[in-house]
Amino acid sequence: MSTKILSAKHFLQIEGLTREHLQSLLVAAKDNLAVADQRVARKDVLAGRVIANLFFEDSTRTRCSFETAVHRLGGEVFTLAASGSSTSKGESLVDTALNIEAMGVSGLVIRSKISGGPDMVAKRVSIPVINAGDGRHEHPTQGLLDILTLQESLGSLQGKRVAIVGDIANSRVARSATHGLTILGCHVVLIGPPTLVNKSHQEMTKFRELISISHDLDSNLRDLDAIMMLRLQTERAASYGVSSDYRTLYGLTMDRALRLKPGAVVLHPGPVNRGVEIDDAVADEFGGTRILRQVTHGVAARMAVLEEVIRQ
Ligand code: NCD
Repeated sequence: MSTKILSAKHFLQIEGLTREHLQSLLVAAKDNLAVADQRVARKDVLAGRVIANLFFEDSTRTRCSFETAVHRLGGEVFTLAASGSSTSKGESLVDTALNIEAMGVSGLVIRSKISGGPDMVAKRVSIPVINAGDGRHEHPTQGLLDILTLQESLGSLQGKRVAIVGDIANSRVARSATHGLTILGCHVVLIGPPTLVNKSHQEMTKFRELISISHDLDSNLRDLDAIMMLRLQTERAASYGVSSDYRTLYGLTMDRALRLKPGAVVLHPGPVNRGVEIDDAVADEFGGTRILRQVTHGVAARMAVLEEVIRQ
């Protein structure tokens, strides 16, 4: 007899969210900042609940901020990684998830190399599943925290212009941000070498008219309200055809940061490859840089998602 509760809510992608739903998550995340910003505060919405973090790909910020978010909500959390688990003996993601569910946990947070991995699990378990990054597909809580950070500095994103620079082809961060920003009426410029950004990326969302493609960073700088720099996803593509001129053409140097629109914001999801996609001086000293603020927002955004899907 199946015990699957068909109404289990999941959080698997930003694509397809309504504007109202996205805004309500952002408002909840903003409210959580008061808790996330303090070192002692805690809510009790997950009291008595255990959440499992299944992290089958490396992570620092996402894994630790999900753990922090569960603690801030008064719940308990454990993390399972691929190495040291039966994944190394060939157990599938779905089998692992079914076994962890059988232990009585209240929700699964899943990071997977497989695009669609969390969705496969969600179809088989009775408890909520949250996507913490799946292959090249989406990283929806990163999308939320990026937007929260932009809203804090820029206010409404309707009509604003945000560039995402680098490895668009392989980046789940770029996909979630592009979906979220265009849902909110923001113009997105996808910039990078032709091997990593091409015309097909304009079809990424149904808001085609809000997406532009460019291979020239310099000509865009003065029009940007914000710029998000990405790491080359070397683990996802053996050969890039990206030359050693990458920094020369697409690196955010201080000279380039100073040519952004006054008040423009600089984001990076981390991990940062200093001296490649962004220079030290920009990451550490440029007034518009919000890289560590994104990390704080990550806790608040993940709290909002956990509250929405687990508390039912
Ligand atoms: C990103 C990821 O894993 O997709 N990092 C993160 O979650 N903060 C980006 C990356 O690895 O480059």
